[in-house]
Amino acid sequence: MAEHKKDPIMSVEQVTKIFSSGVFFRSYTTAVQDVSFKMYPGTVLSLIGESGSGKTTMGRMILKLLRPTAGKIYFHGRDIATIRGKAERREYYRRVQGIFQDPFSSFNPLFRVDRVFDQIYDVFFPELPAAERQARTREALLKVHLHPERTLAHFPHQLSGGQLQRLLIARALLLDVEILVADELISMLDASTRMGILNLLVDICRSTGMSVLFITHDLALGYYISDYTMIMHRGRLVEQGATHEVYHNPVHPYTRMLFRSVPDIGRRWDPKERFIPEQVSREIEEFYSANRGRGLVQVSPNHAVLMSLD
Ligand SMILES: Nc1ncnc2c1ncn2[C@@H]1O[C@H](COP(=O)(O)OP(=O)(O)O)[C@@H](O)[C@H]1O
Ligand SMILES: [Mg+2]
Repeated sequence: MAEHKKDPIMSVEQVTKIFSSGVFFRSYTTAVQDVSFKMYPGTVLSLIGESGSGKTTMGRMILKLLRPTAGKIYFHGRDIATIRGKAERREYYRRVQGIFQDPFSSFNPLFRVDRVFDQIYDVFFPELPAAERQARTREALLKVHLHPERTLAHFPHQLSGGQLQRLLIARALLLDVEILVADELISMLDASTRMGILNLLVDICRSTGMSVLFITHDLALGYYISDYTMIMHRGRLVEQGATHEVYHNPVHPYTRMLFRSVPDIGRRWDPKERFIPEQVSREIEEFYSANRGRGLVQVSPNHAVLMSLD
């Protein structure tokens, strides 16, 4: 977007993902359709949408866990589909990491936390001497407000969900990652723990230049944390831009509807509190046909809206 002078770290260009399933009767699901966006250093970009809208699929393509059906993803100008082989993939994962909803699944329950950190060094920095490893681990844990000695001696099940998510953030710090995909990062945590983790993430972004893709179904969280916001509906980005513009001046009927169902931005969005789907679809269809031929429109330098599908 216009106000950025720096080059993007990551550029997603017209990415589509179609899943096929079934042996005799093949069926196809278009999970992500024609999605484009850029990620810049030191910013939090949120990807917001209902369950099933394609958010996780997008995140998994960035993490090279899924391959796009069409379109390209560039990391510092390099098409990530061309990143192959052990050494190149390892280098990619040193710089691009994901944190998922369930922090427990990210840890081997049989290993103490210090083993988890040792593995990071063994894989990514095998030449680093033991004393240096220890110093770096301490520093990373202190940054995420965890007590180094106490935390390292524990098994994952002895730590709380909030502590495990802090550990995952510490892991990202150790690797000095440039892109962090945080998929429903804090949805399973209680309110007070959430705020601590969000603030931590923003602080780290600002101080290290890390760029976060914050995936959530929670409008209030998106508003709280992000510089830029993308609204996803059935695999398409229907609206994207500077958070304050998207939230205070929504244009797409889907975005407007989302905000109508959240009268107060401070209130949590209850995904069960649904508007009538038929009415939503009809409004969107009418909007697209009234704007036929306009496609993606830049309504201001920092705000773009999908006005029609042709
Ligand atoms: N591995 C898969 N195989 C088939 N369909 C999938 C697969 N993963 C996701 N989908 C489908 O793609 C759509 C988007 O899913 P997902 O990306 O998980 O959405 P979200 O994270 O927004 O809830 C859904 O319809 C889902 O059922
Ligand atoms: Mg998901």
